[in-house]
Amino acid sequence: MTITPSIKSLQGKDLLSVADLSIEELRAILEVTHMFKLRYYSGERIIPILKGKTLAMIFQKPSTRTRVSFEVVMWQLGGYALYLSWKELQLGRGEPISDTARVLSRYVDGILARVSSHKDLVELAKYADVPVINGLSDLEHPVQAISDMYTILEKKGRLKGLKLSFLGDGRDNVLHSLLLAAAKLGINISIGTAKGYEPLPEIMKIAEEEAAKTGALIEIVYDPYDAIKGADVVYTDVWVSMGQEAEREKRIKDLKPFQVNAELMKYAKRDAIFMHCLPAKRGEEVTNEVIEGPWSIVWDQAENRLHTQKAILALIMS
Ligand code: CP
Ligand code: NVA
Repeated sequence: MTITPSIKSLQGKDLLSVADLSIEELRAILEVTHMFKLRYYSGERIIPILKGKTLAMIFQKPSTRTRVSFEVVMWQLGGYALYLSWKELQLGRGEPISDTARVLSRYVDGILARVSSHKDLVELAKYADVPVINGLSDLEHPVQAISDMYTILEKKGRLKGLKLSFLGDGRDNVLHSLLLAAAKLGINISIGTAKGYEPLPEIMKIAEEEAAKTGALIEIVYDPYDAIKGADVVYTDVWVSMGQEAEREKRIKDLKPFQVNAELMKYAKRDAIFMHCLPAKRGEEVTNEVIEGPWSIVWDQAENRLHTQKAILALIMS
């Protein structure tokens, strides 16, 4: 099956950051996602365009959504996925990433990796001869953010000109990827966070360059009410990401004013949607009332990981 000839540029490409994608590539992923979702709901679950292909999935951190959705997608595309725990590979005993990358490249057709340090992912991609996909690092979570763009488009019918308000940790990996995707697609993004939790300057710089091309507005505000005012989409993520457990108390104290609760949601648009990449910590970044309330679309959001990743794998690996 050929998907569409206009997006051949994704074939064999690494996906470490949303910044790696051109606007055409990003739009192509969203279009192909829609096609796969329609086919899924018309009963066509198995589309074997990756027949005979194998994806190695290296996980240095826990995962529910990323692991399960990628594994299911590989199966539905006719391929095979291997779950590999970092600590159970020889990597865990100190085998260099560069050696692991070269060996795995002789066995598999693609590598998905969830790592503690983004530098390790860059090293993996440098030495691998097969495409490497970021399944979350300390810096970014591109497959999540791309899927979220699809979900926003599906729910709101457009992207350009919407206001996305992210409340919480402004240095969060998911937020970094959302910021880049929003800037590329012309979504205005308002980040409500505490002093010292602003996005990393290297991400802000790229996002601002992209925003200058699309006219997207990016603002960092320290007042949660200003941040959420008039939002079409309200997004949050955990205050304590995997690996930040030692900073737990301080983070909770610093980020407390940015909790998404029903009172704060009153300041968003009346038809605003609430999004969260999950897993969520109810009572911290979001109240139970909001995540279980009428604004919340988090289950549809989680489902869309399946359809988007099907598009990503099909475009990169077929
Ligand atoms: N949102 C997300 O990536 O979830 P997992 O950590 O469960 O994969
Ligand atoms: N920021 C979170 C995202 C989990 C999907 C973390 O890194 O733990």
